Amino acid sequence: MNDAIIRLTQTVKGSGCAAKLAPGDLDRALCGLDLPVDPNLLVGLERADDAGVYKISDELALVQTVDFFPPMVDEPFSFGQIAAANALSDVYAMGGTPRTAMNIVAFPGRTLDISILRDIIEGGLSKMREAGVVLVGGHTIDDPELKYGLSVTGFIHPARILTKKNLQFGDLLLLTKPLGTGIVTTAIKAGFADKELTDRVTLAMATLNMAAAEAMAGFAVHACTDITGFGFLGHLAEMVVDSGCGVLVKSREIPHYSEALQWADMGLIPAGTYNNRNFRGAFVDFADSVSMAIQDLLFDPQTSGGLLIAVAAADAEPLVAALKARGVGCAAIVGEVVAKPFGRIVVE
Ligand code: CO
Ligand code: CO
Ligand code: CO
Repeated sequence: MNDAIIRLTQTVKGSGCAAKLAPGDLDRALCGLDLPVDPNLLVGLERADDAGVYKISDELALVQTVDFFPPMVDEPFSFGQIAAANALSDVYAMGGTPRTAMNIVAFPGRTLDISILRDIIEGGLSKMREAGVVLVGGHTIDDPELKYGLSVTGFIHPARILTKKNLQFGDLLLLTKPLGTGIVTTAIKAGFADKELTDRVTLAMATLNMAAAEAMAGFAVHACTDITGFGFLGHLAEMVVDSGCGVLVKSREIPHYSEALQWADMGLIPAGTYNNRNFRGAFVDFADSVSMAIQDLLFDPQTSGGLLIAVAAADAEPLVAALKARGVGCAAIVGEVVAKPFGRIVVE
């Protein structure tokens, strides 16, 4: 390969264009299909959660998930780290411990040097080592568009599964990473972000949700998910639908990148933000005081975002302290579970 600097994000086809698959499309594809029935399948497709859970014994269940995507940063090692942290996150969001992983690679062998793939996989391995996960194999195909990710298997006690669907009145909601990575990575691609911010966001996306998950273990956590492509409000809507309660979000408490709000004001917003608003906007009531930029931030698709945790009110402050003690510095209480309005999200 030549010496030209290769910007991985510039190799992504259709970046900046409207997404071809919109939220809800998968539900339509699966609707009416004859899905397997098995009494040991504790969490499966019919109640789509962060990961599937399959019971092995009364003490042990498998947590299984897969995630892969095209690069959102230019540095191959960082992309590998982010893709791995993102894939591992769904196991943490279920309250599980990841154990094994397999690489999933789509690589344009004609246009990119194989050393780039080596760097990506090395980045992924660094996160697997940190997580105590062993790589057991993988699969690589030639593809015009680069993509990387992992299929991950973890362990969990069948009685300690944290699904999205167990909000209880009075619970407080905690968020463990700042919002705005979709807007900021869009700005990085457009050349607006400086190196300091690029490094800060890259580090946050590459940070495992392991410490956050370990901190949760000691507290009365009722529900958990991780914030990814549907954005904060999209994933919160998944928790609220059919939960029998509502949610009040305190937008002033939301950890975020302040630059993301400036760029949102300029209209520098990924297509996914609009898709997320179209898909879940009907669940949300915004107070007049909530600016359009904040609304965009709350619908912004996240890459390897933080955990969104519903915890008993009495445990909320102690959990925030435990998160901070484990280095999850921006953890904050961002809302509460309320009786009314039933099945809705109010943002104030
Ligand atoms: Co997830
Ligand atoms: Co996922
Ligand atoms: Co969960």
